[in-house]
This record gives sequence, C-alpha cells and structure tokens, in this order.
Amino acid sequence: MHVVTFVSQKGGSGKSTLAVSLAVAAQLDGRRVALVDLDPQGSTAAWVDARMKLREWVSEDSWPADIPLRKVGAARIGAWIEEARARNAGNNLLVIIDTAGTADDDVAAALRGADAVVIPVQPSPQDMRALGPTLKQVRDHAAGKFAFVLSRASHLQVRENAEIVAVLEKHGPVACTVTDRVEFKRAIGLGYGPHESTTTSKAAAEIDGLWDHVKQKIEGEPRG
Ligand SMILES: Nc1ncnc2c1ncn2[C@@H]1O[C@H](COP(=O)(O)OP(=O)(O)OP(=O)(O)O)[C@@H](O)[C@H]1O
Ligand SMILES: [Mg+2]
Repeated sequence: MHVVTFVSQKGGSGKSTLAVSLAVAAQLDGRRVALVDLDPQGSTAAWVDARMKLREWVSEDSWPADIPLRKVGAARIGAWIEEARARNAGNNLLVIIDTAGTADDDVAAALRGADAVVIPVQPSPQDMRALGPTLKQVRDHAAGKFAFVLSRASHLQVRENAEIVAVLEKHGPVACTVTDRVEFKRAIGLGYGPHESTTTSKAAAEIDGLWDHVKQKIEGEPRG
C-alpha cells in the first residue's frame, strides 16, 4: 500500500482537482485506489458523490469505475494510515489524501504517513510568496518525499511558467506542469477524471505526467 498526500496552504491551488485526477490515472494503470478527504469543504467527497450519481443517468456500460471514499476524522489520520498499512500489507492499494489549506497537526500527520507528497503551486507572485509555510511544514514532516506541480498554468505564459519552474527547482523537484483547462472543470464537475471525458485529452496527458512521477517515487520504476 502507498499513500500520496496533496498539500498547500494557499487555497485554490488545485489540490482537490489533482487528487481526483490522479486517482483516475492510477486506477487506469491498475492500482486499487481509495480517496480520503480531510478538508471540511469536502470537494473530493463531493466528487466521489457525483461519480456515484452518474450511475443514475448514464447507461451501465459507461459507468466509471468505482473509486471509494474512506471516511476518516482528520484527528485520526495518523493512526488510520498505520492501521490501513497493516490491513493492506502487500497489496496494491493507493490511498490519495486531499487536505485543507491549513498548517495544523492533522495535515502534519498526513504528511508523516505519506510515501509521496504533492504541492500544487499556481504561477503567480502571490502564490510563490505564500509557499514558505507550506514548504517548511513539508520539510519538517516529509523531507525528501515531495514534489511541486506547477498548477493552473496559463498556456499563454510559457516563459513566465519556465521561470517559475526554475525557481521551484531550487527548493525541490517539479513533477510536471498542469495547464488551466476547461476540460478539468468540466470533467471533475461531473465526477469524471480528465481521462474519462474525451478520447484524446491534453489534460489527461498532463495527469499521466504527474502519475509517472509519483509512481516512480513510490514504486521506484518508470511506468510503461
Ligand atoms: N488545471 C485546472 N484547470 C482549470 N481549472 C482548474 C484547474 N485546477 C483547478 N481548477 C479550478 O480552480 C479551483 C480551485 O481548484 P481546487 O478546488 O482543486 O483547489 P484546492 O487547492 O483544492 O482548493 P482549496 O484550498 O479550496 O481546497 C476550482 O474551481 C477548480 O475547478
Ligand atoms: Mg480542495
């Protein structure tokens, strides 16, 4: 069993979007996946709910594969991860944890229990300035396990994005860039991942890049 935790104290950076998109990519690659939503806002829980509701109005042969939500009280996350690891020793369960944009002990426990940590960062001066506390918390609890994702990047600002990636790389690895695309909003609003909305999707290709990075980190081998 492996655990991937998404974290960033800056709200709206793309944690929930990337968490559920990665869940679909990993499942398509043969992993058994479960989601945990530690954010009282409940974006990831709402996505799981929307995904279940698809069964009421799409035909059975196009039902998306079930991705369960594990309900865990935030204060129990550390103990829950240990129990889940004991129960799932030797199987290929991937637990993906979405967190609230806070710096509390619950997030720290979700970082300590993770095999890989993803920090989405939007390419803006405000977001770069706000990164300090998140980075400190991740270094304190998950040093060596994290990677950044340049998230919601504009496809019009190629040079600026490259400059920001270069700055991020001074602090840690950058897994990939995920562009701001309507495809993400459309798919995720309905309970799908970008892989499931269209046949050739640039959004899906970007998430594959993230999955390749995470998979290498947790399984120690490149995909494919
Ligand atoms: N790559 C993307 N392309 C288009 N829209 C995106 C993308 N990533 C995120 N968004 C949109 O940006 C908003 C914030 O994204 P999301 O909820 O994933 O961020 P978050 O970090 O989980 O936020 P919070 O801190 O509030 O939990 C949402 O409206 C989402 O649809
Ligand atoms: Mg969120």
